[in-house]
Order: sequence, then C-alpha cells, then structure tokens
Amino acid sequence: GRASGASPAKREHWSGQTAFILAAVGSAVGLGNIWRFPGQAYEAGGGAFMIPYLVALVAAGIPILFLENGIGHRFRGSAPLAMRRSTRRGTSRAGEGVGWWHVAVCFVIGLYYTAVIAWAASYFFFSFDLRYADDPGGFFLDQYLRLGEPGTVSLEFVPGVLWPLLGVWAVAIAILALGVAHGVERLNVIGIPLLVVTFLILAARALTLEGAGDGLSALFTPDFAALRDVDVWIAAFGQVFFSLSLAYGVMITYASYRRRRSNITGPALVVAFGNSSFSMLAGIAVFSALGFLAHQEGVAVADLEGYSGVDLSFVTFPAVIAQMPGGAFFGALFFAGLVIAGLTSLISVLQTISAALQDKFGWNPRVSAVVVGVISAVLSAVGFATTTGLFLLDVVDQWSNQLGIVAGAVAMIAAALWFGRRGTELRRHLSTVSTFRLGRAWVVLVNVVALVLIFMFVSKAVTLGAY
Ligand code: PHE
Repeated sequence: GRASGASPAKREHWSGQTAFILAAVGSAVGLGNIWRFPGQAYEAGGGAFMIPYLVALVAAGIPILFLENGIGHRFRGSAPLAMRRSTRRGTSRAGEGVGWWHVAVCFVIGLYYTAVIAWAASYFFFSFDLRYADDPGGFFLDQYLRLGEPGTVSLEFVPGVLWPLLGVWAVAIAILALGVAHGVERLNVIGIPLLVVTFLILAARALTLEGAGDGLSALFTPDFAALRDVDVWIAAFGQVFFSLSLAYGVMITYASYRRRRSNITGPALVVAFGNSSFSMLAGIAVFSALGFLAHQEGVAVADLEGYSGVDLSFVTFPAVIAQMPGGAFFGALFFAGLVIAGLTSLISVLQTISAALQDKFGWNPRVSAVVVGVISAVLSAVGFATTTGLFLLDVVDQWSNQLGIVAGAVAMIAAALWFGRRGTELRRHLSTVSTFRLGRAWVVLVNVVALVLIFMFVSKAVTLGAY
C-alpha cells in the first residue's frame, strides 16, 4: 500500500543536468551566504577562518553532499521514502522517521524564510523613495515590523508585513504546483543567473566606494589564534552544513529527480564550489560596503554593529544605501537579490515537504502544494506577521538549524550506513557514471563526520541548555 511507499505516478524529472545543478545551487545559495558567512568569517578569525571552513567543506560538506545525493538517487524517493529504502531490508519505520525529521526541520525553516523574503520584498519597494533612509533602525523595528515589548505575546497582525508574506506564500504555492520541471526548475534557471549578475554589480559598486579597503582588511586579516578555539571549528562545520542545505533532506529530494544513469559526483562538486564562490562574492560586497559606512561615520570597521543577520540586511545596509550615490538603484538591486536568493532556497525546503507528502499519500503536486502552502502560510502569519514576530526568529534558528540538523545528519548516517550497511553499495553507485571513483576513504570519512557531529551536538545542547 501507500504506507510502504508505493510511488503513485512516474517520478518527475529535471530536464537535464544543468537544471539540476542550478536548482541545487539555488537551494545552497541563500541568506546563509549573504548575511551569515561574511559576519561569521569576520568574527571567527577573519582570513584565518578560511582554514576551518575549507577543512569542513572538503572533509565533511562534500562527502555528506555525495551521501545525500547518493541516497536520493539510488533509492529514488523523497526523504522519508528514500531513508526507509536505505535501511537494511528497506522497510524500517525508524528509517522513514529520519526522513520525516528532515521534513519537520524544513517545515520550521520555511516559516521564517518566507518572512524574511517578505521583508526583503517590501524593502525593494521602499528603496525607490528611500523611506528607510532617515532612521533605518527605528524604521525597521517600529514603523515596519511594529514590534511590541520583548517577551510580550500579541496576536495583532501588522498589515504591512502580512500582505507581502501572504504574497510570497501565493508565489511559492504556484511554483510548487507547476511541478519540478515547470516550476522549481524554471525558477532556478532564470533566478540563479540573475542573482549572480546582481551580486557582481553590487560587489563592483561596493569595491569602488571610499573605505572599501578597510572593510576588506577587517574581513580578511587573519587572526590565527582563533584556530585554537573549538567554537570556531564548530562554527565552520555549522556554516558549511547550513550553506549546502545538508541534513534537511533537500539534496536527497532534488537528487531523486535526476534520471537513472546520471553523474552524481561531478555536479555535486560544482554545487559545492559554486556555493562557496558565491559566499566569497557576497563577503566582498558586504564588507566593502561596511568599510564605506565606517568611513562615512568616521569610525573603525570594528566599531560597527549589525554586520550579520537581520540587522545587516534591514538596518545596516539601509544606512549604507542612504549614504551612497545612486542608493535607490543599488538598494533595489540588493533587496531584489535577497528575494531571489531566499525564494530559490525556500522552494527547495517546500519541495522537500511536498515530495514527502506526494510519496506518502499519492497526492499530485498541486494538491500537495496547496496543503503545505496553506498550513504553513497560516502559521507563518501568526508567528511573523504579528507584533511578536522578530523575537521568535532567534529561538527557532537556534533549535532547528543548530540542534535539529546535527541530529538529522547523524540519524541519516546511522540509518543508511550503521544499521542499513549501505556504505559499499552507495559508494559503488556513486562511482558508476562518475567522473572519478570514490574510494573506501569516503565511507570512513562519513563515519568520522558522524562522530564529529555527535560531539558538536553535545556541546551545543550544553550551551543551549544553559539559557
Ligand atoms: N542553504 C541555505 C542558505 O545558505 C539555507 C537552506 C538550508 C536552504 C536548508 C534550504 C535548506 O541560506
């Protein structure tokens, strides 16, 4: 029956390898590259952060990216179905549960990713008359979000946030309903080249602003002492996993839409290095702009606050835009870029949820899209379009993106490799049409990564527990 994962119709497909690569890059490149990576690198050793970052990328990120692609492609299913099939007899409910865990984390991330995209869409329009320019902090918190007192819960909707938010959900539902090739793929094939051009223009402009050099030296000056700090290494692993959308079931799902005889490893490398290149590009753009702001305000870059996350995009950047020549144009460009980067990532998490429901209940993409979209839209509106909005974001981010995915990654490795004993089978599968053969070292590496992740989980749980 359906419960055992009978796939309803023929599985959908990407139109080709390039389409898959663009979609996977679309998932990987997101807010994490633009507002997380630069600030993270700056805090955790500057130029020296490149060392733990590259180690985490090569020793953990890429091997796990191969694993997820392998599971999705070999077992041809959404996360729950593929994870179930990856277990010893291919029928384990616990294995399926691992996939549902991934789906649950996707559900949570979808709720707040949409909110950020909605804010960015609003700010795209606010850029034309630069209405945020006079007092960016006050404008964002009091006039736009209309936040209440921290800690107070209120269900009063903020119309200026609610409507854009529902708009983003409507667009997302429409794209999902069009299916893999006509919806998800088309968004990425158009969106990703546009996004790259957008950020090339932004970086070129930012680099030529006065003070850009100070920003870049703040970002790249190495602090090698940071390498002795365990937290810096943990941060690098966390950044790589989040950035490559690993342990969310996304890459399993996307790989399941590739044709049977496909090269899995080559494109995975393109995705990994393409994603890191975009992070560098964003880092250069962001810190050049911060250097300019410091220069304008006559302070050192080190004295600037708000160099990452929500603050960077919605408070610091508006301040930069307010002071630079042609600010309206570059402001609109920046927020348009944020919308595209966000939307292509959002669609990947929603497709992961939608695919799971399609495999489980035999629904078609349209039904699934509406069910996922409507439920999520209501919850995200209650969570983020009310005067309580912003406070939730931090809590949600900590639990789902830090603890949730580490557990999801370890459970995935345990199900497929430790209990399922699929290491050799997956290694052979990944080597069949591959540009290169994966050695046994790959399986060993994946096991080591699991141990490192267990360590990370414990240390993070201890810190979170201390709150
Ligand atoms: N990789 C995205 C980013 O860097 C975030 C993301 C995580 C997207 C998981 C989808 C799934 O912003």
